[in-house]
Amino acid sequence: MKPGAAMSDATRALHDYWHPVALASALGDAPVAATLLGEAIVLWRAGGQAVAFRDRCVHRGTKLSLGWVEAGAIVCPYHGWAFDATGACTRIPALAEGRAIPARARADRLHCEERYGLVFVCLGTPRRPLYDVPEFDDPAFRVHLLGPVPWRAGAARSLENFMDEAHLPWAHPGMLGNRDSAPPVITRDVEEEDGAFYFECASEVRNRFDPTKTTLNRLTYRIVLPFTIYHENIYPNGDRVIDLFFTTPVSETETVRYMVVGRNFGLDQPPDKLIAFTLKIWEQDRVIIESQSPVELPLDLHDELHVRGPDNPAILYRRMMQALLA
Ligand code: FES
Ligand SMILES: [Fe+2]
Repeated sequence: MKPGAAMSDATRALHDYWHPVALASALGDAPVAATLLGEAIVLWRAGGQAVAFRDRCVHRGTKLSLGWVEAGAIVCPYHGWAFDATGACTRIPALAEGRAIPARARADRLHCEERYGLVFVCLGTPRRPLYDVPEFDDPAFRVHLLGPVPWRAGAARSLENFMDEAHLPWAHPGMLGNRDSAPPVITRDVEEEDGAFYFECASEVRNRFDPTKTTLNRLTYRIVLPFTIYHENIYPNGDRVIDLFFTTPVSETETVRYMVVGRNFGLDQPPDKLIAFTLKIWEQDRVIIESQSPVELPLDLHDELHVRGPDNPAILYRRMMQALLA
């Protein structure tokens, strides 16, 4: 399948979930084009509020993202039709005065929410609310954003990479473990929840502000299907790093990663070092994940070889994704 092409019917179920499509800061006075699940969308602001439409004018199919925003409406660049935040057409310049605007002259409005500095869109009807992290609004935490980081890989491949413990010393030697002292991955108890699952492990973690120090940390992972991970890295002294990770399905072969990161220590430290560290890790991962074949995650467990224990989270993820898409 060509990048950017429409997704197959099998992925229709993904329309009913929230996916981040842009940084809120990228959404200013001008419309912004984005792609989600192979569908072109346009984002714009009406009175400060983020609005998402399908990026297609009902008149002649022009991309509304080529237009502009004027008096609380988005204006199509071809014949100047204007659409307000509800999607209603409020002006057709070529119509003689007194002629009514046809009721069918509407933009196709999508569910859109702004949170954590990201703009989320749902193409269908949201099955669950956005994942709530109260710490991100707590002044005891300093929060920063990562992304957008685009990968030529399926979103599910990207998600599995984030929760894959066994790859850490091999793909990230000297940063997240060492190849000559890579411990076996202990079998994880993976707890299934409603549309999610949870596991945790202990890991020797290098202090990212002071790389000479390491601590044995508790790492927790809550995978919220289809493409969200809530992850905590808890230090023995109670310091916490909280990650809310998203990998957006742009198409079946393209994904964009975003992560909201909060920490309750080093509040006076700028996040630059943490961001540089994570981006370096992600770049090491990108080369590997973009090499995987097939590009989309095979959900049939017979298609790849799993080892019970270390691959338990991946086995459950594939099973649950199969059920979600069925
Ligand atoms: S195509 Fe949009 S106004 Fe004509
Ligand atoms: Fe990695």
